[in-house]
Amino acid sequence: MKIDGNTKLTAVLGYPLSHSLSPLMHNEAFKHCSFNCIYIPLEVKPEDLGAVVKAIGRMNFIGFNVTVPHKVEVMKYLDEVDKLADIIGAVNTVVIKDGKMKGYNTDGIGFLKSLEESTKQPVEGRKVFILGAGGACRAISMTLAMNKAERIYICNRTYERAESLCRDINANFTSISLPVLMEYENMKEAIEDSDILINTTTVGMYPHSDESPLPKSLLKENLIVCDIVYNPKKTKLLKDAEALECKIVFGLPMLVYQGAEAFKLWTGIEAPVNVMFKAVESNS
Ligand code: ATR
Repeated sequence: MKIDGNTKLTAVLGYPLSHSLSPLMHNEAFKHCSFNCIYIPLEVKPEDLGAVVKAIGRMNFIGFNVTVPHKVEVMKYLDEVDKLADIIGAVNTVVIKDGKMKGYNTDGIGFLKSLEESTKQPVEGRKVFILGAGGACRAISMTLAMNKAERIYICNRTYERAESLCRDINANFTSISLPVLMEYENMKEAIEDSDILINTTTVGMYPHSDESPLPKSLLKENLIVCDIVYNPKKTKLLKDAEALECKIVFGLPMLVYQGAEAFKLWTGIEAPVNVMFKAVESNS
């Protein structure tokens, strides 16, 4: 990639950053599109976030990504926040235009694209059972609600977090969300009523690849089973689901599609999704 005086900058701000696949994915995409821009990792400690964001605004950046632990905190340094990001309460992408910073959240959209691309069906009218209640779950559940899912069950180890998220979903959309106790019978009833199951917890992630967030006996035929964990590619949950001939949705496409959405917001052009897939697949 040729870097010259006109080269624009993008970055990911996080702490730590050593595992991020985003620099690789975006730099390949810029190169493929001959877009004169590079993407750099900026390891930023929480206490330095404000100063770094301010400095970025004074340089030749067209935008940046934000990851753990800055997704909520960054919002107070921005000029504007998009409606969905505001409802989610977190930003993962910032666009800089005419000296103004606007925050977006592409995590949920990334998931939705991966789901609809894989199932070839819209989520509208579907009933969804989600495990977890953290930041990823918040982005996904709000995006599904915005896209007219009919029912969203939230089941989390810490029940109070599930209750609180359901309250927030129901306050922003119609009352479609219900918390579920993480107990066999409660989960069974909710899953039986659902079309789609999504794991947004970290259970099953390397090196605990032999763990699943729920017993196989709770899965059923015809359920669409998604896991946002992408290391390993096929988690224990997805293996169990596959054994029952369920449709399965991997975690890696969500990562690529959330990046593709950010790329489009920054450049105004469609992201070369295949190039981005190739970049992350060769390194994950
Ligand atoms: P993220 O922002 O990536 O979603 P997070 O906010 O740390 O990350 O959330 C992680 C989710 O995984 C939470 O829902 C967490 O449950 P708690 O709210 O009870 O902490 C869930 N989680 C993590 N480890 C878990 C485990 N061993 N069993 C069940 N749930 C787990």
